[in-house]
Amino acid sequence: MEKPILEVDNLRIRYGGASTEAVRGVTFTLGRERLGIVGESGSGKSTVGRALLRLLPGATITADTLRFGDRELLTLSEREMLKVRGRHMSMILQDPKFSLNPIRRVGDQVAETYLRHFRCSKTEARDKALAMLEAVKIRDPKRVYQQYPHEISGGMGQRVMIAMMLLADPDLVIADEPTSALDVTVRLQVLNILDGLVRDRGIGLIMISHDLNLVRNFCDRVLIMYAGRVVETLAARDLDRAEHPYTRGLLAAQPKIGGGRAPLAVLDRQPEWLEEKA
Ligand SMILES: Nc1ncnc2c1ncn2[C@@H]1O[C@H](COP(=O)(O)OP(=O)(O)OP(=O)(O)O)[C@@H](O)[C@H]1O
Ligand SMILES: [Mg+2]
Repeated sequence: MEKPILEVDNLRIRYGGASTEAVRGVTFTLGRERLGIVGESGSGKSTVGRALLRLLPGATITADTLRFGDRELLTLSEREMLKVRGRHMSMILQDPKFSLNPIRRVGDQVAETYLRHFRCSKTEARDKALAMLEAVKIRDPKRVYQQYPHEISGGMGQRVMIAMMLLADPDLVIADEPTSALDVTVRLQVLNILDGLVRDRGIGLIMISHDLNLVRNFCDRVLIMYAGRVVETLAARDLDRAEHPYTRGLLAAQPKIGGGRAPLAVLDRQPEWLEEKA
C-alpha cells in the first residue's frame, strides 16, 4: 500500500483547565483521498483539524503518533511548524471574512503566501497568484486581485481562500466547513474546484462538515465523531449501512424532501457511546 500522508494514533487534546479531554484517543490514517469528519457540534471535529496544524494555543496535545509524511508533528519546533503550515499542510476555514485581512488587497494576500515559502520575485509571486485565482474559476482575476475583501462576495472570498491555501501545492488540505456560509449553487462550484484539485494534484483532503449528504457524495471515507471519539469509520458510499446507533440516529434525524410531516427522530443517547474502547 502507498505510504499514508497522515497517521494519527491515540490523539488526545485537553483545553487548558478543562476537566475532560475535548478529543479522546482519535486514530486514523489518510492517503491521497477525501476523508470526511462528521459529528454534532462540540464533538471535536475542528479541534482535531487545528491540532494537526498545531494551532491550539493553551491546549495540551498528546498522541502516540502524529506523523505527517516523514515528520513527527508533535516533536517539531515552532520554527519548523511555520515551514509546514501553508506550505505542506493548510486549512480552509468556514468564513473568509474572518480570515482575510480587511485592509489589504485580496491579490497581495494571495501572493504573499507564495512569497513566504518560495524564493522568487514579486512579479513571479503575482503571476502565480493570478494563475491560481483563475484555477479556482474566478472569471476576472486581474480585477479581483486589486479588490479589498469587503468588495467581493462570500463565494468569491471562499475561492480566494482556497486559492491561497493551494498556492504552495500542499500535500494535505483541511477544510473546516468550507461551504457552510455559501448558497447552494456557489457551494457546488466550490466543491467542484476542491474535487478537481484533489484529483489533479493527488493531495489528501480532510473535509469537516455537519452535512451527511455532502460527505456521502463528496468524500471517499467518513469518520463519525461523538464526544471527542471516532465511533465509526465507513466508506462514504456505505454511510446508509452504518451500524453504530449514533450514526443511525444522525441519519434518521435528516429531513427528507417529500418525507411527510412526521416529527424527525431524536437521538436517544446511550452512556456507553462515551466509553473508550479497550
Ligand atoms: N478554545 C477553546 N477553549 C476551550 N474549549 C474549547 C475551545 N475550542 C473548543 N473547545 C471545546 O472543545 C470541544 C470540541 O469543540 P470543537 O470546536 O472541536 O467541536 P466541533 O465538532 O468542531 O463543533 P462545531 O460543529 O460546532 O464546529 C467542545 O466541548 C468545545 O467547547
Ligand atoms: Mg467546528
